[in-house]
Amino acid sequence: MDEARALLEAAKSVLVLTGAGVSAESGVPTFRGEEGLWKSHRPEELATPEAFRRDPRLVWEWYGWRRARVAACDPNPGHLALARMALTRDGVTITTQNVDGLHEAAALEVARELDRDPDPALPLELHGSLFRVRCTGCGECYRDREPVDASDPETLPACRACGGLLRPDVVWFGEGLPSDVLERSLRAARGADLCLVVGTSALVQPAASLPLRTRDGGGRIVEVNPRPTPLSGVASAVLRGGSGEVLPRLLSGAGAPGG
Ligand code: OAD
Repeated sequence: MDEARALLEAAKSVLVLTGAGVSAESGVPTFRGEEGLWKSHRPEELATPEAFRRDPRLVWEWYGWRRARVAACDPNPGHLALARMALTRDGVTITTQNVDGLHEAAALEVARELDRDPDPALPLELHGSLFRVRCTGCGECYRDREPVDASDPETLPACRACGGLLRPDVVWFGEGLPSDVLERSLRAARGADLCLVVGTSALVQPAASLPLRTRDGGGRIVEVNPRPTPLSGVASAVLRGGSGEVLPRLLSGAGAPGG
């Protein structure tokens, strides 16, 4: 903890990379954890363009279930500590693989409390958002938090512009990441003195390689995760524990004057 705190204090720019584990204590299941299965389907079977072409109803049923589950969750002390750091010191970028919107909710909550603009704490969403949709017909993309009725192919979400079938605006296996978000994340990783990696198994590319960009540029890595990952061996400090408990301790006082 002392080593991690010292690295954080010394860093001028920090990239935070998060994965499903940062939301585990909010009640959102991780992908590769015990609750990762839905009706005996693995995420890798449903989160693909082929699965959506084959059975859009089944895929929407899964996303509708995930939306409802996540909508009932609140940011936990880990999300709030990260948002507070991003709002109270300069040079912090939060990049997430999560599609649950909980970093954004934390940014809004802490910004309200501090009477600040939430922007510096809004995350770069590498894998999209459960609460955005994209039209498979005209390409229109917009925010959408409505409950999903996937009882029948006829009731699936339809585009407000052209009536075409909507899909969740998330990145599926076999698809590329949104190029602007990836570019900004890569730039932040290359320019960071410290990459704080939280709650990711670090198995999915290109997200998992962002901390290595920081290291290749001379920066350091700090990992927060109850279990070892492929990044543990290259991290300068590893904090074993849940992020909802570890991050508030690590980041208390992490705001810099003038930030
Ligand atoms: P995973 O489910 O692969 O990994 C979750 C990580 O969180 C594991 O390393 C756990 O040990 C850790 N963890 C569990 N509880 C935690 C806690 N309380 N605090 C901190 N860490 C905890 O999820 P991701 O690494 O996010 O992609 O998965 C990456 C991508 O794989 C996802 O974004 C998704 C998936 O396929 C797409 O859908 C494109």
